[in-house]
Amino acid sequence: MKELIRWDLSTMHGDMIMNDLTLTIFGGTGDLTYRKLLPALYNLYVSKQVVNIRIVIVGRRAYDHESYCEVIKPWIKQFVRLPYRDQAFQMFCDQLSYYQMDFTDEQAYLPLQAFYQKHQMNHHIFYLAVAPRFFDIIAKGLHHVTNANMGSVVIEKPFGEDLISAKALNKELEAFFTKDRVYHIDHYLGKEMVRNIQAIRFTNPIFSNIWSHEYIEHVQINAMEEVGVENRGSYYDHSGALKDMVQNHLFQILSIIAMEPMNLYTRDEMHARQLQVLKHLRPVSNLNIEDTMVLGQYFDYQKEPSVASDSQTETYAALRLFIDNQRWQDTPFYIRTGKKLDRREMEVIITFKRVMPDVDPNILIIKIQPNEGVYVRFNIKKPGNSEDIVPASMDFCQSCLDINRINTPEAYERLLLAVMQQDSSWFSKWDQIEASWQYVEELKQRYHKENLPIYDYLSYSSGPQAADVLLSKHQHAWQKSS
Ligand code: BG6
Repeated sequence: MKELIRWDLSTMHGDMIMNDLTLTIFGGTGDLTYRKLLPALYNLYVSKQVVNIRIVIVGRRAYDHESYCEVIKPWIKQFVRLPYRDQAFQMFCDQLSYYQMDFTDEQAYLPLQAFYQKHQMNHHIFYLAVAPRFFDIIAKGLHHVTNANMGSVVIEKPFGEDLISAKALNKELEAFFTKDRVYHIDHYLGKEMVRNIQAIRFTNPIFSNIWSHEYIEHVQINAMEEVGVENRGSYYDHSGALKDMVQNHLFQILSIIAMEPMNLYTRDEMHARQLQVLKHLRPVSNLNIEDTMVLGQYFDYQKEPSVASDSQTETYAALRLFIDNQRWQDTPFYIRTGKKLDRREMEVIITFKRVMPDVDPNILIIKIQPNEGVYVRFNIKKPGNSEDIVPASMDFCQSCLDINRINTPEAYERLLLAVMQQDSSWFSKWDQIEASWQYVEELKQRYHKENLPIYDYLSYSSGPQAADVLLSKHQHAWQKSS
């Protein structure tokens, strides 16, 4: 079967990965590297998709190669998708070099350059798995590395400390590496079911023909997490749910769900369509903020390590947004995310308009995680002598099949491979980032200006009750629709 999106060949180099590529990870002893990057690299290595790449791990701690391998072993064991094997791990570890360095010291980049030279490492990818306040200093340091500007750089959100600094940094990075080789990673764009949204929407006339305000009553995008902030307090307390989840991951999904159909099915066209959605979000100045957003914080958040004891950072956000274009006139889009909730569940729920007031609406659920699949609810006549109308459903669980689970790469695997292939298709573009950031920042400012509270909620509950108020018109929307 044909691919839905045609890849933009001008920006990618096919399946080719340059032979003597070196991937340097700054932040090599951090959570992201242990949990996501190294397990993804292990999977790529074991599945022989990436064999010749050299990996340099930059960290401040005094490890040598052996001790670093010992440190990462349990993480790899726990987080890899493919079976863990000691021998494979050893071979994978042989690809790694641990390089101890204080990356905030500009002088330290001269010895790093000497290290690269000694090992003839000339073709680079730099992964900045560090807090955004360090991006700038690392970028400056890399000016001391020969050929660094011919390589690529990968950065994680929030891409800067605030929008102004992020803009400046982005400009600097683009000037040094060129625009095409600055990769803003949003790992949700690597998730199987996020990539599936267009296929489900555009290849099924039963959905594509009714994808508008005429037939859709409302849309929910839910990302509920059971975990709290764990050991990421110092990052999270400056970020909060709006910047951590909404302005990137959830706005990406929102814009894929709501975008106009494509003519050419290229990634460039898709980016442009997504951007149009963000630009048509109802202006914050036209919103009654009380009916738009509820922020919450779980009890005991202020006692988490590295969190301010009087922190007002939100760990929960519920939003009711509108897209002011012809397709979506007055259709509410509900976005909800939070930490320490009663379940881990990420899904998009499309509720269609009822044909009669007492007949249940059709529902389509795109299940993103923990299970991946598609659920559809429709109506039938009650079996037997009754003429009553009752709901029936079909529930396709894609990830319940071992073969699908084993063959589906993790998001970071896909995206790391894409960087190695110089394929920037499934990365956030700066204009999208800027539009989302600006919108979320305005929402947040209005919320605080109007002195709206940060509602407390119990850990492992369904979140603050005040969030339900947003749904006065769609009371059933917060409830799980299946
Ligand atoms: C990250 C956020 O981007 O996404 C985390 O910083 C969040 O706070 C995580 O927990 C969720 O990712 P996933 O893949 O577990 O849904």
